Amino acid sequence: MAACAGAMAWPLLLPEPAGAATCAPAEPASCSLRSVADLAKLRIGSTITSSRLGDPAYAGLLSEQFSSLTPENDLKWYSVQPAPGEWHFEAADADLAFAEAHGMALKGHNLIWDQDAYTPAWVRALGPSGLRSAVDEEIRTVVGRYRGRIPRWDVVNEPLANLGTARSDSVFERELGKGWMVRAFVAAHEADPAAELWLNEYGTDWVPGKTAALVRLVRGLREQGAPIYGVGLELHRPTDRGPRSDDVVAALSRFARLGLRTAITELDVPIAPGDPAGPRRQAKAYGRVVQACLEQPRCREVTVWGLDDGHSWLDHLGLFPTPTRPLLFDADLQPKPAFAVVRACIARAALLRAGAPAAPLSCASLPRP
Ligand code: G3I
Repeated sequence: MAACAGAMAWPLLLPEPAGAATCAPAEPASCSLRSVADLAKLRIGSTITSSRLGDPAYAGLLSEQFSSLTPENDLKWYSVQPAPGEWHFEAADADLAFAEAHGMALKGHNLIWDQDAYTPAWVRALGPSGLRSAVDEEIRTVVGRYRGRIPRWDVVNEPLANLGTARSDSVFERELGKGWMVRAFVAAHEADPAAELWLNEYGTDWVPGKTAALVRLVRGLREQGAPIYGVGLELHRPTDRGPRSDDVVAALSRFARLGLRTAITELDVPIAPGDPAGPRRQAKAYGRVVQACLEQPRCREVTVWGLDDGHSWLDHLGLFPTPTRPLLFDADLQPKPAFAVVRACIARAALLRAGAPAAPLSCASLPRP
């Protein structure tokens, strides 16, 4: 992958904010998530939403606990270019300014979402030639604007069909032909040759055959010259019954064997509203997934899809009874059992990494108080 060879490795150790407490991983309670994750060489991420940045409690928790941020919606095509020639970067600029002010790395999400529901209507109506130009322009404009400042992009999001394993039947597939994804990756690389370029997909954990289909797709794209650096796996519905750590490691390893980096990009674990055991089961599920990433050497990041239970997309999905309470912090921004498990899990990995005696990395259990 000559085109990819120049891609800079994204620094794993990010600067600690001034005044951060000293973290001793043998005592996880002394550590923020981000400080212990730095020691374990894992990026730990949350989404960011510019409209909440004026809330000091939100902003404080985000910068204290996370080293990576993914704009939940502020960089999507429908946000940055709601109409032809009309660009809006205020929200994304605010997200990036916040990340930079706190020594956090922002991930550009996403350039092309390969599902019609999330593509602006005016884009869908362009016809093949206009669509090709619009895709090129969007990638050039957005990546070019943040060249050197946003080190990593989801170039293509969710390229496989909803609930299936075939390629999506999106307007991009219908009107641009099979080569459009390669062209999109090449355009992003030209706009910022140092940026890591990622492909992001959901459902590999529960749609039969989807991991294999994604491996085939990515391998084919790379053979055709797409400078893909990594594959991100969304995990939106792990439960205490699955997926098992081993299965997630196996899925991550399939992409690692292609020479790619991997990440868990969108993790959240809904629980039933009235289930008293819910928080405990949720903690186990989080532990299993974080353990899997820590065990696969090419897995670089775990990002949780939201900061707190008061603000989750899952409460608006209509698939689960609400409130789904799927995140690490409750609606009052207080840490939940899942937070303690994730921090303890990463702390053990940091100790093992440093050669210190530590319990084996078995993260699906609650740490002792
Ligand atoms: O902008 C309006 C706002 O004006 C209004 O007050 C509000 C009332 O509901 O709706 C707002 O827009 C919603 C937006 O989220 C902000 O809350 C959209 O209707 C809604 O469709 C949008 O949903 C987002 C969804 O992607 C579609 O873009 C979710 O927040 C976001 O979590 C979700 O994220 C995706 C990832 O990007 C890709 N993987 C799947 C994941 C979950 O669907």
